[in-house]
Amino acid sequence: MTLALSLSTHTEPHMTHPLTPQGQQFVEDLLAQMTLDEKIGQMTQPEKNSVKGGDVARLALGSLLSGGGGNPEPNTPETWRDMVLGFAREARTSRLGIPLLYGVDAVHGHNNVVGATIFPHNIGLGATRDADLVRRIGRATAREVSATGVRWDFAPAVSIPQDVRWGRTYEGYSQDTGVVSELATAFIEGLRGDAWNTPTSVLPSVKHFVADAATNWGSSTRVNRDTLNVDRTLAIAQMGESFVDLLDKGAWQIDQGDTTIDEATLRAVHLPPYAAAIRAGALNVMASYSSWQGLKLHAHRYLLTDVLKGELGFAGFVVSDWEALDQLDADYRACVVQAINAGIDMVMVPFDYERFIRCLRDAVQTGDVPEARVDDAVRRILNAKYALGLFGQSDEPALPLDVLGCEEHRALAREAVRKSLVLLKNERDALPLAAGADVLVIGEAADDVGAQCGGWTITWMGGHGPTTPGTTLLAGLRAALGGRVQYAPDGRADGRYGTAIVVLAEEPYAEGMGDRADLTLSAAQTELLARARAVSDRVVLVLLSGRPLIVTEQVAGVDAFVAAWLPGTEGDGVADVLTGAHPFTGRLEYSWPSRLDDLRDPQAPLFARGAGLSAQVVPQLT
Ligand code: GLC
Repeated sequence: MTLALSLSTHTEPHMTHPLTPQGQQFVEDLLAQMTLDEKIGQMTQPEKNSVKGGDVARLALGSLLSGGGGNPEPNTPETWRDMVLGFAREARTSRLGIPLLYGVDAVHGHNNVVGATIFPHNIGLGATRDADLVRRIGRATAREVSATGVRWDFAPAVSIPQDVRWGRTYEGYSQDTGVVSELATAFIEGLRGDAWNTPTSVLPSVKHFVADAATNWGSSTRVNRDTLNVDRTLAIAQMGESFVDLLDKGAWQIDQGDTTIDEATLRAVHLPPYAAAIRAGALNVMASYSSWQGLKLHAHRYLLTDVLKGELGFAGFVVSDWEALDQLDADYRACVVQAINAGIDMVMVPFDYERFIRCLRDAVQTGDVPEARVDDAVRRILNAKYALGLFGQSDEPALPLDVLGCEEHRALAREAVRKSLVLLKNERDALPLAAGADVLVIGEAADDVGAQCGGWTITWMGGHGPTTPGTTLLAGLRAALGGRVQYAPDGRADGRYGTAIVVLAEEPYAEGMGDRADLTLSAAQTELLARARAVSDRVVLVLLSGRPLIVTEQVAGVDAFVAAWLPGTEGDGVADVLTGAHPFTGRLEYSWPSRLDDLRDPQAPLFARGAGLSAQVVPQLT
């Protein structure tokens, strides 16, 4: 199914209120009963590891989150459900018993939970151009997320990446606005299911508002390279290499930086997916860490209030990003005043939530933040909770935990993997693999579920090896081809083979930790291709990456090249198309640069957006 690619520059306002008149009255009546502290509590979202026992009820907290890797120990569906329900039940014991909204990043399945189905990251889903598939993935994700008691998913990202050196490129579906709008809408409809107020519906968070993916290289201020002010979050999450090594490679050079595009470009390219999401019923938007023309989005009243809430008619609430307020000013109270007055409604304050509560209370009492602004923020939060049906529902999940990682969802993920792969070169009949040919698989990444999944998987950064139950690409090939598959991770093998399949991967990363100045392959990776050429008649390169890499030289030296992106746990979907059991149908949604000095809107790409070859299907011997 191809999408009607429309680049709508006019953003239609959202005309009807998402709640019925009765719903709106319910919210007003509840708001009228609330004290200032109860209102501020609803606007406060700590990370679950920070919240002290009893504070959910004592402070009438509106929400908690698990940040990337914010998992219970041990990490199982059962412990997740018990943790989330424990907090939800505590919230019900507060004076007004306003239900808690628990949020997680389920950006490619319920990816924090060991055993959940991990789908391809968005860059792969974009290559399918299949809105129905993405809708079904949204539904499967909502089923797994809600089964653990969670009803808020910090997804979809509607980023439209302009510079693939950005560590969040893989969170973007496409570089085409119309495709992003169509697929984000489909995902949101999947999270909703039949109606927002059913127990398996999950609130989406459309992110990051706005133009998060248009920042300029070198404009990020997240890390001061002189003082190396490694804040608590980054100190916790260093990826194993020394933090300085990652900074030398370009970490935190572009993520959370500044975009200098003009307003016409911002409106034409980056705003339409939010209008589409609002039309689809989204009631939460997450503000971007980044800046537009030097002003942080978290303090941007024009964009957050005048454009998003006024012009687009957004009736839901805006949540800040993780500790994002702290970046606005040296004085935290000033951060709170700027952000709330600009239009932030709920603050993701992972650590010192009582400081936030104190500052906002004081700001209201001194008039620096009008109480009417607080009322508006709380109204919006209550709108979303009412729309989800939280007030009338039990906190008990509707589905059993064995829905996580169930066969039906893994089959869906395998379908998505097949449809996401893009065949970009295929000469000398290298693919599909000839029946009966002996195959040599090379590269550690061929047998590494962690490498297949990438960042935002079990931990924030992701990892290597069997981090969660899944099928590696190698296991998939062995299941399909039996004993004809040999494996030489380092490429050293005796004998001669019909085809060598070399699987190369990026190191897993997330956010600015994945910003990279150099997108070329390493010498060790290139050496594996040389070893493959020495022992086989044909060489196939399969690349596991969160973005296009500079592989011009390597592609010239192989017979076939497949962009596999970050396929997730169902690696057998890769084997399905390599063996010809299913056709290659994926198409690039990103322009693929050929050189490091031609990255942004490449003038001479190696492969243009839309590229992708087909290969004939081979009837499989039963
Ligand atoms: C992160 C990300 C955001 C995520 C949030 C909660 O820093 O920017 O996408 O939803 O914090 O984990």
